[in-house]
Amino acid sequence: MGKVIAIDGPGGAGKSTVSRIVGERLGFLHVDSGALYRIVTWQCLERGVDTGDPAAIAKAAEEISIEARPEAGRVAFFVDGEAPGDRIRTPQIDENASKVAREKPVRDKVTAMLRSLAALGDIVVEGRDITTAVFPDSPARFYLTASAEARAERRRRQEAGKGIAGRTREEVKAALAARDAMDSSRKYAPLRKADGAVEIDSSDLTLEETVEALLAALPAEYGAARAAGGRTGA
Ligand code: DC
Repeated sequence: MGKVIAIDGPGGAGKSTVSRIVGERLGFLHVDSGALYRIVTWQCLERGVDTGDPAAIAKAAEEISIEARPEAGRVAFFVDGEAPGDRIRTPQIDENASKVAREKPVRDKVTAMLRSLAALGDIVVEGRDITTAVFPDSPARFYLTASAEARAERRRRQEAGKGIAGRTREEVKAALAARDAMDSSRKYAPLRKADGAVEIDSSDLTLEETVEALLAALPAEYGAARAAGGRTGA
C-alpha cells in the first residue's frame, strides 16, 4: 500500500488546487473524491432518478460501474470507458450532489473505491470525509479551510474563468453555505475537522504559502523536505 495524504475542508477552500500541486511536488497521484460523488449524481440524473428518493439512489449506486486508472499524475475515472469531463461540473450536479452524497450506499461504494486506490501507489486524496472516515489512520491528515468571503471570491473567479454564468460573490457565498450546511449536518460521515488533523486556514495565504504550510507539516517519511520550495528549486 502506498502512503496517503488526506485533505478535507469546505467548498472553495482550495483543496483541489493544493492537492494537485502537492501531488506533483511529491510524485503522489491526485485523487478528487468529490468527482466520484459527482459521477454517481450524474448517472442518477441520466437515469431519471429522483434525488429525493433514497431507495432509487441506492439502486442506481449499486448498478453504476466506475473504473479508475492512473493518468498524468492523477487517478482518472471512467464510466463505460468514457471520461465524464465537464458533464459532472454543471450547476445541476452542484445542486444535487449533496443529496446523493448523503446516502449510505453511495458513501459505502465511494469509500471502498477510494481505499482500493492506495494500492496504485502514493496518493493525495481530497474531500469531506477522507480524514475522518476513509483514511482516519493516515499520519498525514489536513483540514484546509478559509473564510466564507475568501472561498466565495475564489469560486466566483473560477466560474468566471470557465465562462460559467456570472454569479455575484453574494450568490456564490449563499450557494456554498447551503452545500456546506448539508455536507456538515448529514448523518453519515459529515464534514468536520478530524481530531489530530492539521488545520490550515488559507484566507490570508497565497497558494504557494498554503502548499508550503502543508509540506512543512508532513511526517519526515513523506519526503517533503526534498519538495519544499519546489518551483524555485530552493
Ligand atoms: O468537492 P466537490 O464539490 O466536487 O464535491 C461534490 C459533492 O460531494 C459535495 O456535495 C460534497 C460531496 N463529497 C462528500 O460528501 N465526500 C467527499 N469525500 C467528497 C465530496
